[in-house]
Amino acid sequence: MKKLVINGGYPLNGCIRISGSKNAALPMMAASILSDCDITLNRIPNLADVRTMIALLDSMGIKIEKNHKSSFTFNASEIESKFASYELVKTMRASIMVLGPLLAKHGEAKVSLPGGCAIGARPVDLHIQGLEKLGAMIEIKDGYILASTERLIGSTYTFPKKSVTGTANILMAATLAEGETKILNAACEPEIVQLGELLNFMGAKIEGLGEDCIIIEGVENLEGAEIEIIPDRIETITMLIAGIITQGELKIENINPLHIQKPIELIGQCGAKIEISEDYLCLKSSNEILPISFETNPYPGIPTDIQAQLMVLNTVAQGDCEIKETIFENRFMHVLELKRMGANIEIDGNTAIVRGVSRLNSAQVMATDLRASAALILAGLIADGETIIDRIYHLDRGYERVEEKLSNIGAKVSRID
Ligand code: EPZ
Repeated sequence: MKKLVINGGYPLNGCIRISGSKNAALPMMAASILSDCDITLNRIPNLADVRTMIALLDSMGIKIEKNHKSSFTFNASEIESKFASYELVKTMRASIMVLGPLLAKHGEAKVSLPGGCAIGARPVDLHIQGLEKLGAMIEIKDGYILASTERLIGSTYTFPKKSVTGTANILMAATLAEGETKILNAACEPEIVQLGELLNFMGAKIEGLGEDCIIIEGVENLEGAEIEIIPDRIETITMLIAGIITQGELKIENINPLHIQKPIELIGQCGAKIEISEDYLCLKSSNEILPISFETNPYPGIPTDIQAQLMVLNTVAQGDCEIKETIFENRFMHVLELKRMGANIEIDGNTAIVRGVSRLNSAQVMATDLRASAALILAGLIADGETIIDRIYHLDRGYERVEEKLSNIGAKVSRID
């Protein structure tokens, strides 16, 4: 199994370009099911999760053409099957987002339940509840969601807790429902806003994107559209932290400053100098890193997807901090590996107390999930000696050409068998 080898202690300097967002691309690819026309998505990142979604849509008979490097056109006019197999869904739980579009467009769907995940139970009960509120008949049988409807009927659904892909599923389904749908306590993530923008380009009638209440007036049909995918805000912050902890100077290009305001505000407290421009930022690190306490929350709060990376920054800060994880009940899997690298971290329920140490040591470590693998890379960049990270297939799900990008700004990182 492939591993990453990192020799730590080298400052990162230079320019790095951010890829398109994985979590924006995936729901927009699923949205192609809603129309019989061409949906073109530009700046799709070359990631394992994107390839899984392409395999899933292809298995249903959706025509997929690669226009050029990161541009694909999807056409679902000749869809044959409304089935999402366990084989595909188990590798990527975001596959659940074909459920709403299949139901709304074809009145039927058979989609595997996603199953377990390292960072938490992650049920999809709210997706099902929301679709049932729109009148879908749903049965769970042999590990599959069997859903059917004559036609979805607009209604009001209040999420008891915010769900990103849950909101995406109901939003997509409601575009072809009869009448008006109100989604209350909706997710406000930029990825949801861009999904809604694409749907409106396709002829949907959606208002309130980015707010707690989204209103959708159902239409008979949706047309074709083309859109450029927003930059990956999680990759942006991951690379920013890489620059800060290695005391480097970076220019990070292709960012959207509006999507990272809160994280930038928080990270600015560690002492680094961050200058934001229209679509890039410049970092000048400081010699000392100050600790930053925080808790994760749904957007516009601090994303849970940067919790592990921010924890690494705090492992070498001058002082202590507290990190509270409020979204997923098991998202501290990286802590044990960081402790093997000499970090001083104590877990108390959903709170981690991090006491800064002067240096991390290298070690052989194992990635447990996507963002934990990013955190281990960051730790390897500052550890004394050679760190070897196992199970990097997690990383390839969400970071495009990571070792190439890091090597170009001075990191000593390579991939081995
Ligand atoms: C999305 O997952 C992202 N994935 C995750 O990013 C991200 O961590 C998460 O949102 C939170 O920001 C994609 O966009 C593809 P949720 P999602 O539904 O939608 C509970 C990454 O690293 N819940 O917002 O699956 C759930 O268990 C990934 O790129 C229910 O109880 O997350 C969690 O505690 C990891 N029932 C909370 O809600 C439901 O039906 C929020 O989860 C749905 C969710």
